[in-house]
Amino acid sequence: MTTNPLANKHITLAVTGGIAAYKACELVRLFVKAGAVVQVVMTEAAARFVGPLTFETLSGRPVALDLFSGKMPHLALTREKTDLLLVAPASANILAKAAQGIADDLVSTLIAGRNCPLAVAPAMNDKMWTNAPNQRNIALLKQDGVHIFGPACGELACGVSGSGRMLEPQQLMACARRVLTPQILAGKKVLVTAGPTYEPIDPVRGITNLSSGKQGYAVAQAAFEAGADVELVSGPTGLRAPYGVKLVKTDTALSMKAAVDKAAPQADIFISVAAVADWHVRAPSSQKIKKASLQGSQPMIALEENPDILAETAKANKRLYCVGFAAETQNVESYAREKLNRKGLSLVVGNNAGFALGADVNSVVFVTKNASVAFEGISKQEVACRLINAIACDLGLCKGENL
Ligand code: CTP
Repeated sequence: MTTNPLANKHITLAVTGGIAAYKACELVRLFVKAGAVVQVVMTEAAARFVGPLTFETLSGRPVALDLFSGKMPHLALTREKTDLLLVAPASANILAKAAQGIADDLVSTLIAGRNCPLAVAPAMNDKMWTNAPNQRNIALLKQDGVHIFGPACGELACGVSGSGRMLEPQQLMACARRVLTPQILAGKKVLVTAGPTYEPIDPVRGITNLSSGKQGYAVAQAAFEAGADVELVSGPTGLRAPYGVKLVKTDTALSMKAAVDKAAPQADIFISVAAVADWHVRAPSSQKIKKASLQGSQPMIALEENPDILAETAKANKRLYCVGFAAETQNVESYAREKLNRKGLSLVVGNNAGFALGADVNSVVFVTKNASVAFEGISKQEVACRLINAIACDLGLCKGENL
C-alpha cells in the first residue's frame, strides 16, 4: 500500500487562459513538494497571464507551448508515462473542445490523444459557468468519465460573487490524491469525530484538553481520498475542513453525541478520534463568575460524567464497524486491547498521549481481535492512510492484504 499517492507520479498540468492561472503556480509547487513529476503545458492565452518561465522554474522542466514546434510534442507527451492529465484552470473554451473532441492546439490535442485519467478544474465567470452550452459540456465530460474538480462558489475576478471560482491549490491536491488513490472505501459512509470537547463553567471559562484535531482531520481526509462519503463531527479546533468532507461543528460532549447519534445509523464505519471530556459541569453559570462573589473562598464546581459516545454508539448500531483511539501514557497495547473488548469495537489505535497531543507525528499500534501491528514516529497523515487501509483489509475490501 502507498501512503502518499502522489509520490513519483507523473502529472501533466495543462494551464489554459484565465486569471486563476496564477494559482496553478502554487499547485505545481505543491505537487513537486509531494514528490510528483510535473510537466506543464500551456495555451497561448495562458502564457499571457503567467510567463512560462515561472512554471519552468517551479517544475524544473521546460514548458510545452507549441503544437508546431517540429518535434510533435503532443505525441511525445502522450507517449510519456502520465498518471493524470489535469487542466487547471480550465476555461469554458477548453471544456467545450474537450467535450466535443476538438483538437486544434497543444492542450486540446493532448486531451484528445490522452491515455490516462483526465481531470478539469473549471474557472470562469458565474454567467459563463451556468451558461446552458457550458453545462451541457460538463454533463458530457462527466459521462465520459472525466473528473470535474469544483468549481467553488465565492468571489470572482470580475468582482461579483457566484459559482465558477477555481478550487484552491490545496483542494485540487486533495482531489488529485483521490483520483490516484485506490478507491477501497468507494460507496462506504464514514463517520469521524475529532478534536477536543469544551465544557463550559461560565460564559468565558471551560474545561477542555490539548487535542489539536489534526489526527481526526487527517483520518477524515484519508477516508475521502479512499472514495468514502465522509462526515466529520468536530469539537473546537483551528483547522479547516478537509476538502470533500461534510463538517459538523460541535462543542460539548453532549452536542457531539447528538451529532453522532443522528449520523451513525446511516454510516458503515465510525472512527472515534475525538478526545471527549470525561465530565461536564453540572450547572454552568449563565453569568461570568466574579471573584468578589466568592468572598475569598474556593469555587466549588460539581461535575457529572459524560456519556461514552463510542461505547454507546457501538452498542446501539450493531452492524457499524467501530474504531476507537486509546491515548495512554503506559502499557499502550494492553490498554488498547482492554478498550477493544470493553467498548465492543472492531479496531483500536493505541497511541502515546504525551507524545501525540498537538504534534505532527505519532507512534501507534493497531489492535484487532486477532492481531496487532505497531508503527513508530510516522506522520499523522501516514497513520490515517494506514488506518484506512487496515479497516478496509479487515472488512475484506482490499484483496490479498491483511492488518
Ligand atoms: N470516547 C468517547 N466518549 C467518551 C470518552 C471516550 O467516545 N466520553 C472515545 C474516544 O474518542 C476514543 C476512545 O473512546 O476513541 C477511548 O478514549 P479514552 O479517553 O482513551 O478512554 P476512556 O474510555 O475515557 O478511558 P480512560 O480515560 O480511563 O483511559
